[in-house]
Amino acid sequence: MDNNFDVIVIGAGPGGYVAAIRSSQLGLKTACVESRKTLGGTCLNVGCIPSKSLLHASDMYFKAHKEFKNLGIESSDIKLNLSKMMANKNKSVITLTKGVEFLFKKNKISHLKGKGLILDKNTVEVVGDSNKKEIFKTKNIIIATGSTSTSLPSIKIDEKNIVSSTGALSFEKVPKELVVIGGGYIGLELSSVWKRLGSNVTVIEYLDHIIPGMDKDISDEFLKILNKQGINFKLNCKVTEVNSLKDKVFVNFNHNKTSKKEKIECDKVLIAVGRKANVGEEISQIGIKLNSQKKIQVNEKFQTSLKNIYAIGDVIDKGPMLAHKAEDEGIAAAEIIAGQAGHVNYNVIPAVIYTSPEVATVGKTEEELKKENIKYKIGKFPFMANSRAKVNNETEGFVKVIAEEKTDKVLGVALISSMAGTMIAELALAMEFGASAEDIARTCHAHPTHSEAVKEAAMSVDKRPIHI
Ligand code: NAI
Repeated sequence: MDNNFDVIVIGAGPGGYVAAIRSSQLGLKTACVESRKTLGGTCLNVGCIPSKSLLHASDMYFKAHKEFKNLGIESSDIKLNLSKMMANKNKSVITLTKGVEFLFKKNKISHLKGKGLILDKNTVEVVGDSNKKEIFKTKNIIIATGSTSTSLPSIKIDEKNIVSSTGALSFEKVPKELVVIGGGYIGLELSSVWKRLGSNVTVIEYLDHIIPGMDKDISDEFLKILNKQGINFKLNCKVTEVNSLKDKVFVNFNHNKTSKKEKIECDKVLIAVGRKANVGEEISQIGIKLNSQKKIQVNEKFQTSLKNIYAIGDVIDKGPMLAHKAEDEGIAAAEIIAGQAGHVNYNVIPAVIYTSPEVATVGKTEEELKKENIKYKIGKFPFMANSRAKVNNETEGFVKVIAEEKTDKVLGVALISSMAGTMIAELALAMEFGASAEDIARTCHAHPTHSEAVKEAAMSVDKRPIHI
């Protein structure tokens, strides 16, 4: 193989593999280095994809148990076969990671197997199996090395009884008592999976609300819904110790306000308190600057402090740690390297929590607008008044549209609905085109659909909803 490239991408997660494909489409000779045996990074192997498989399967199981009979579907022998559910999840992962392999071949991308180390601004060393080293030369490098789970001081994740999301995606049996530390995205998605499959779940969250940074109305409503589903919450509590003894784990925590101490005995503990950027020591040694959180600093063109070295995704100091944000940055970075005008609009990055119902947001929250002193108006519409949601018995949640007071321009949307993750795309598109609430209100939405609630929420901004 010729060891000279136009672009070497380090990391084949959703940021890296997409950057490699786009680079190759643009005529750049491209290689992608990956140390994991399969392509697709955290997202495909131990993140978004396996968690969505378990969320879907556990939702079906729960509905078959609790909701089918209300629809006139009678079935007396519904049983959980967890190993089959896990096998189905593993099959989805294999299919999708193989799909990326196929795309690499189709786009003539060299897949360099091993750990990539940047020796200098034009040289990457790949350390493969049995420490075999090979040197590659390149005009440009894109760092897309992602992130890894963090833990709490003095708590060691063993992926057996004290687990990160990786371990919680592969329990061999349903834990009787599961404690989840952290009420963020990972904590709540995996709490939902195991609650539906039969665990008693307690979430311990440091703050006085779940999903920090999310619109407060949505966060409050979401907490009510999850409480109703039987998930226990200990808010405003700080975990001080987690100890494993034989097959049991003991979690000690203090209430932030009263300093009252509590202890829970459980079978498994999931630590879901955030992720940290995957930055090797050599990155700062070659002169690439990091911010105070040890994330790589980039400019608006995704260039690091070494101009021909770019960085994208979870590893950079911009935007949320989300797969689709990384993908868009990968496309933009490749286009910039090819001399085009790649760009990512950080004001319009949707975020989705794939629970049941789902939660989705895009743009600013009401709290952010207050802080920025921007005057706004709000339109809300409950799914209780949406015909399709009523027919489907999915009446929880609402749509909240926030528009600028003077111009009516949509600044943010948040919704809770069984279909929220799919519905948010309409709002992201509207915001990309600078739509006003009136534009959405005057767009014909098919009947009967959940999306009519979006139109009604937009009409509510002007205080003229039809169905409430
Ligand atoms: P997160 O940042 O979403 O939530 C972590 C939570 O832990 C916060 O609520 C925080 O207040 C709490 N916490 C921190 N220290 C604590 C302590 N000592 N005791 C109790 N609570 C504590 O992080 P998470 O859930 O680990 O997810 C990591 C990243 O992965 C996020 O950036 C998220 O965007 C991404 N992700 C996205 C998903 C999606 O798009 N659906 C799914 C899963 C992850």
